[in-house]
Amino acid sequence: MKAVVVEQYAPIDQIELKEVAVPLVTLGHLRVRVQAASIGFVDGLKVEGRYQTKDPLPFTPGTEFAGVVDEVAADVKGFAHGMRVMGAARSGALAEYIIVPPSAVEIMPDTLKPEAGAAFRTNYLTALYALGERGSLRAGEQLLVLGAAGGTGVAAIQIGKLLGARVIAAASTEEKRKFAASFGADAVIDYTKADWRDALKELTGGHGADVIFDPVGGEVSVQAFRSIAWNGRHLVVGFAAGSIPALPFNLPLLKGGLLIGVDVAQIARREPDAQARVMAQLSTWLNDGRLTPVVGKVFAFTDFRAAFKTMQTRAALGKMVVRIG
Ligand SMILES: NC(=O)c1ccc[n+]([C@@H]2O[C@H](COP(=O)([O-])OP(=O)(O)OC[C@H]3O[C@@H](n4cnc5c(N)ncnc54)[C@H](OP(=O)(O)O)[C@@H]3O)[C@@H](O)[C@H]2O)c1
Repeated sequence: MKAVVVEQYAPIDQIELKEVAVPLVTLGHLRVRVQAASIGFVDGLKVEGRYQTKDPLPFTPGTEFAGVVDEVAADVKGFAHGMRVMGAARSGALAEYIIVPPSAVEIMPDTLKPEAGAAFRTNYLTALYALGERGSLRAGEQLLVLGAAGGTGVAAIQIGKLLGARVIAAASTEEKRKFAASFGADAVIDYTKADWRDALKELTGGHGADVIFDPVGGEVSVQAFRSIAWNGRHLVVGFAAGSIPALPFNLPLLKGGLLIGVDVAQIARREPDAQARVMAQLSTWLNDGRLTPVVGKVFAFTDFRAAFKTMQTRAALGKMVVRIG
């Protein structure tokens, strides 16, 4: 089978698509024929060996995928050859086949295409866990989404609307703001402008943002916190801008605001009930058609490097997906 193989941690330009053996199914696992895999921020860091945990070399990158069950170990119940599934693994999704435990996958609704299935799990789990479980976003509240045209950002717009919030999307270009608006944002802001907080104040009628979804980090995070409403919640999701901001402690006091961390990587272990609640709600929305995962751009398998580069150069709108099968 064909697989992207990282033999040395290196920039994506130096990584090759190789011919490798189809992996064998081991007890407690199933083999999925991958049809689509999506590229996340973390995948780019892992390829270069810059993520907090390093995958032992050689490895195949790619965490999120959708495909068809190919073979099931004798001790695994509930799955059969031919079932359409979507899921996430620690690595290995940029390959024609992947071996995973059943807990890593779920049945893909008939209405979803593999590209959308591959773009689902991390971003939507993050958005609903952050906004619902951590941020307690309520209907009628004002939600500010930073990096709103990015993978998690656009998911936060959709989930924010489903939770009944008024969503204000902040993004750096006209194209990104249009993209954010097309997925339901009620208003948009150019947060690269020096006076963007004045625009936010006006848009919220002087109230400020009740909840801030922040996958960006850097100076914009501190500015956003300065515009938080009384009793507002600022959700720390990520640092796509590359720098970790430092918040003066007087600001939470003066604003009556909360800074709340979000880490979906830990919830299966620390809050399994919350994870189950969030996944059940997402499944309901997916199955009744109220939620469709946003696919930004689809790349051919041979063009996997372009998918990484689009994301790494701040050029991506939505999630980058590689079509494999
Ligand atoms: N905490 C968690 O559980 C969790 C879960 C998923 C992801 N994350 C993290 O969240 C962050 C964002 O993930 P994502 O999938 O939304 O990424 P993404 O699709 O690349 O979007 C990130 C957005 O950040 C903005 N940005 C500002 N400065 C940037 C820069 N120098 N380079 C790249 N983007 C920049 C961009 O919007 P503008 O151009 O409009 O500014 C971009 O659209 C990552 O750090 C990721 O690791 C955390």
